[in-house]
Amino acid sequence: MEVFIGSDHAGYALKSAVKDHLEKKDIKVTDLGAFSTDSVDYPDITREVCEKVLEYPGSFGIMICGTGQGSAMTANRLKGIRAALCDTEFLAEQARKHNHANVLCLGERSTDQDLALKLVDIFLETQPDPDERHKRRVDKIDTVC
Ligand code: RB5
Repeated sequence: MEVFIGSDHAGYALKSAVKDHLEKKDIKVTDLGAFSTDSVDYPDITREVCEKVLEYPGSFGIMICGTGQGSAMTANRLKGIRAALCDTEFLAEQARKHNHANVLCLGERSTDQDLALKLVDIFLETQPDPDERHKRRVDKIDTVC
């Protein structure tokens, strides 16, 4: 499993915690910044994370900003990216099962660290539901718009 991770300044601390958490589990993590709490614009880092996910099929992206909202809005502009802003275990599971999400967005200011790490684990461990109806709907995301 390969994970590309990024944040803006407001997600930097949580990004560092998520990165450590994944590395302890021997998961390959590529950190695309931010590398400090100096102010940066979340669309720039989100784009870098998503481009890597598209370049390496089967990989995952994790993008963290203050709320996760701006990251999710940006990520979902890229065709082939299915980004899910999750703040409950149910959402993290469903995002993978039914929506085959490939990018998880988190908010450092809205989700505490313990829950965020749990959401990351659920997101990465949950397999897409293979039922045809879910695949059909996921495929339509890229064709109806
Ligand atoms: C930065 O202050 C904040 O606006 C940003 O991290 C994010 O929450 C946007 O969605």
